[in-house]
Amino acid sequence: EKQGYEHFMLKEIHEQPTVARRFLSDRLKQEEVKMPELEEIWQEDFEKVMITACGTAYYSGQVGRHIIEELARLPVDVEIASELRYKQNFIDEDTLVIVVSQSGETADTLAALEVAQKKGAKILALTNTASSSIARQSDAVVDIMAGPEIAVASTKAYLAMLLGFYLLGLKLAELRGTLSQSELSDYRREILKLPDRIESTLHRTEPQCQKLAETIVDYDSIFFIGRNLDYSLALEGALKLKEISYIHAESYPAGELKHGTLALVEEGVPVFALMTRGKLARKTLSNVEEVKARGGRVIAVASSQLMEERAEDEFYELIKLPVSNELWAGVIAVIPLQLTAYYAAKELDCSIDKPRNLAKSVTVE
Ligand code: M6R
Repeated sequence: EKQGYEHFMLKEIHEQPTVARRFLSDRLKQEEVKMPELEEIWQEDFEKVMITACGTAYYSGQVGRHIIEELARLPVDVEIASELRYKQNFIDEDTLVIVVSQSGETADTLAALEVAQKKGAKILALTNTASSSIARQSDAVVDIMAGPEIAVASTKAYLAMLLGFYLLGLKLAELRGTLSQSELSDYRREILKLPDRIESTLHRTEPQCQKLAETIVDYDSIFFIGRNLDYSLALEGALKLKEISYIHAESYPAGELKHGTLALVEEGVPVFALMTRGKLARKTLSNVEEVKARGGRVIAVASSQLMEERAEDEFYELIKLPVSNELWAGVIAVIPLQLTAYYAAKELDCSIDKPRNLAKSVTVE
């Protein structure tokens, strides 16, 4: 079953190029994004989008927010399902609600869906389980087709969720006319390069992440910083690490560091700095300097173009990513984060596929 891999998690990490190829070949045909499920429920008067989910699915929604806002110019809110269900919300008939769930059975996500449905919103489910309760109750279902995910820590489903958001973002842009035909086709062309880039990143960064993992496991706390989309990725990086290695990990928007967290950075503390977005990377680099000045060990996870003028020894470790379109960088950047979490947990001899206290599907509140 594990096909020679020591753990399901590692197998699922390695399945990601295949997952991406399968999903994209199903959805990107003849230079066209196929998203009939969205077209069927599409309303000209959609005024806003609400994304709701839990855990990793919620973090995929954080990426989705940036994608949809930038491409389709629609305001997007992202709410944790267990919060949304009990708070004042402004969902109405003009809201497109996107519910994200690998299992399709998460109790809080299902309850949030029902809250939104009562307000008359249209619900689109992004799920890995097309026969699930969440899929059944939604108006439209986009199957992310990642295949069964056994490890409690989600990897390939997260990647497929991001791809789902990329294509939803492009389709929404097409429906709203916010991008020109040539912009749309440039974006599509770049998306099609992703499976090969995912594959090469996996192979190139795996030994580097394995070595890195051995050096970070001695620390009690590890931080992840980034801005904008990179912050969304930082959230997932921290969750993956804490979930399976039990090392305390936290993510922060890089600009927030000096509003509190910097107090925790001292000699040797590892700080992952995510930098895939041009203009913002420069800003994050100034936060990197603040970390270095306090003796923190900076692990830069950055697109290679942005690091051309940087010396490797400026960082404790530099993980270079083959990224050309920065909007699509998420699926590339997450790979070294998953691998580092995996090898850190392995180094600490943790129960990787079934971490303590956690279940694959959370069907109770
Ligand atoms: O099945 P779902 O996508 O609804 O699950 C949501 C979370 O429980 C899940 O993503 C959890 O955070 C994972 N263990 C993270 O790796």
